[in-house]
Amino acid sequence: MKEPIIVGVTGASGAIYAVRLLETLCAAGRDVHLSISPSGRDVLRHELKLDVDLNNFDTSRLRLSGESTDTTLHYYHHQDFMAPMASGSFLTAGMVICPCSGSTLSSVATGAASNLIQRAAEVQLKERRKLILVPRETPLSLAHIDNMRRVTEAGAVVLPASPGFYHDARSIDDLVDFVVARICDQLGVEHALTKRWGER
Ligand SMILES: Cc1cc2nc3c(=O)[nH]c(=O)nc-3n(C[C@H](O)[C@H](O)[C@H](O)COP(=O)(O)O)c2cc1C
Repeated sequence: MKEPIIVGVTGASGAIYAVRLLETLCAAGRDVHLSISPSGRDVLRHELKLDVDLNNFDTSRLRLSGESTDTTLHYYHHQDFMAPMASGSFLTAGMVICPCSGSTLSSVATGAASNLIQRAAEVQLKERRKLILVPRETPLSLAHIDNMRRVTEAGAVVLPASPGFYHDARSIDDLVDFVVARICDQLGVEHALTKRWGER
C-alpha cells in the first residue's frame, strides 16, 4: 500500500489543473488527502461552475472521471489543524499545492502557516518530503521570485502551470494534461497523460 498524497487547492487561476490532478491520482489508485482554501473554492466556482461547501464537502461533487474504486479521497477543512496532514507523524508520499496562489507561496516561503494547507506544506519541508508548488501568475513580482527561490532552497519543487506546446497539443485538455503529467512525474505516479519526448 503506497502512502497517501496531499493535495491543496488554493485561489490561483487554474482550478481545472486541480480537478485533473485529483482524477489522475485517484485513477492511479492513490489515497488522496485534500484541502481547499476559501479562495480556492471561489476559483472552482468561477472557472468550473463547481459549487463547493467547504464546511460539508461531498467529494463526489468534483465529478471525477475514472475514479478507482480502491481509492479514497479524504477531504479536510482548511482550518482543521487536527487533520492527519498537520503532523509529521502522518507519513505521506508528498504534497502538491495546485494551483498555488502567490499568497500561499509567500506563507510557505516564510513558514507563516495560518491554514491547514500551509501547515501541511510546512510539515513536508521540515520532514524533508516532496512538496510541489504549482503557481499561476504572470508577470511575476520580485516577491514572487524571491519566494520561489526560498521554497526551492528549502527543498520544494516550483512547477509553474506553464504548459509546453511541443507535444502536438490540440485542446485545452492537452495543455492541462501536460502540466498534470509533470506533477505526476515528480510524485512518481504512473500515468499515460502525454507522450514523452522521444516516444512515437
Ligand atoms: C477569480 C480569481 C482568480 C485569481 N487568480 C490568481 C492567480 O492566478 N494567481 C494568484 O496568485 N492569485 C490569484 N487570485 C488571488 C488569490 O485568490 C488571493 O491572493 C487569495 O488571497 C489567495 O488565498 P489562498 O492562497 O489562501 O487561496 C485570484 C483570485 C480570484 C478571485
